[in-house]
Amino acid sequence: MTEYLPEPFRIKMVEPIRLPEREARENALRQAGYNVFALKAEDVFIDMLTDSGTGAMSQFQWAAMMAGDESYAGARSYYRLAEAVKEVFGFEYWMPTHQGRAAEGILSTLLVKEGNYIPNNMHFDTTDGNIRSRGGRPTNLVIDEAYDPENQHPFKGNMDIEKLIAFILEVGVENIPFGMMTVTNNAGGGQPVSMENMRAVAEVYKTYEIPFFIDAARYAENAYFVKMREPGYENKSTLEITRELFALADGMTMSAKKDAIVNIGGLLCMNNEELFTHARNELIMREGFPTYGGLAGRDLDAMAVGLYEGLDETYLEYRLGQTSYLTEKLAEAGIPVMQPAGGHAVYLDAGKMLPHLSHAELPDQALVVELYREGGIRGVELGSVMFSYEDPDTGEMVYPDLELVRLAIPRRTYTQSHLDYIVKAMVKIMARADEISGYKFTYAPQFLKHFTAQFEPL
Ligand SMILES: Cc1ncc(COP(=O)(O)O)c(C=O)c1O
Repeated sequence: MTEYLPEPFRIKMVEPIRLPEREARENALRQAGYNVFALKAEDVFIDMLTDSGTGAMSQFQWAAMMAGDESYAGARSYYRLAEAVKEVFGFEYWMPTHQGRAAEGILSTLLVKEGNYIPNNMHFDTTDGNIRSRGGRPTNLVIDEAYDPENQHPFKGNMDIEKLIAFILEVGVENIPFGMMTVTNNAGGGQPVSMENMRAVAEVYKTYEIPFFIDAARYAENAYFVKMREPGYENKSTLEITRELFALADGMTMSAKKDAIVNIGGLLCMNNEELFTHARNELIMREGFPTYGGLAGRDLDAMAVGLYEGLDETYLEYRLGQTSYLTEKLAEAGIPVMQPAGGHAVYLDAGKMLPHLSHAELPDQALVVELYREGGIRGVELGSVMFSYEDPDTGEMVYPDLELVRLAIPRRTYTQSHLDYIVKAMVKIMARADEISGYKFTYAPQFLKHFTAQFEPL
């Protein structure tokens, strides 16, 4: 799509951005230990580090914030959000959390024991980290097409059902406290999951009596992909599709910072009353009283409005149009990108772009650094920095199949000329790709390395 629906909004408030001089960018990189998470945001021109909490809220969300009820217990804001959560997702029990990983933390604390396995299409970094830090083993069972960046499969986030059944039989049901599905599949390119696949996954989990949780961060983008691509759904609304999809699960964790278009917030939902009682106790210990869960009343109100705005189909047409515009412009310029375009981000195939660098030489990290060096653009590494780990059985380093760099597009924030600027910078980087050298770690924590690791050019 080399054209997309013009922004279905106009800009009423602006935040200035600026491109620092090349020498200043070089100094900033050095001072940050070549980790773009350590850059000052004011030194970044176009920030595609994440689409999490970085979108622009609407006038309706800001207005709702003014009505926020800051009562410690039983606030009106809580009940307004309760109505929205019930209507959109339909679970029996729910609680707000300050963001997605808090919901994952509570679930993992309650259910994951040393040596347990948690299957998923693909775990995102925080789910992976939360499970690993409790001695669990997050396992990715997405379809093989997901690992081929050029494959045009319409639902590359789908679970491989045969692999899932074989896996359950191999490790034993008793070692799987719950199973997951991530929509859309962020770690695998923001790729959607079809309703048909979700139904099959739910059936398998049900057969083996494994509680089924959805990682719901991008519920709305997934619903729009289903509407656009899955026969039988073209005349259903994104709200109807969402309700149908979530009715298949026993619960969900969610970062509201994505499709609910808020700067902070998350949800933990479930149907099991006993589990909910334990989760609520954990919430009180870590996050706050169950009617605010680590958030201000105004944040709950912004989320209540955002849950519906995220599902607006005109907005979703523009939103997915932006992602596919950037993907196609880059592909036309000969830059290897994940195809087809995902929902919230464009994924550069750094492994293919820098074939002279091995996994251990961190090709994605090298590309992330070049993006900032060339254009003041901040992307994020989704490869050997984020996902490599030491196998607990063999002690060997395990590297991911894909070396991707993600350019996540904040919602309602950047315009087409910003996207065109990124394409121009990438063309310049591509022209000198074979001169780009690798990186090595000078510091890495045990879990979630990418946030605080430090590097040195090789
Ligand atoms: C699929 C997915 N799950 C979970 C999370 C974690 O959410 P949060 O950053 O709100 O803790 C993210 C955030 O990027 C995500 O993309």
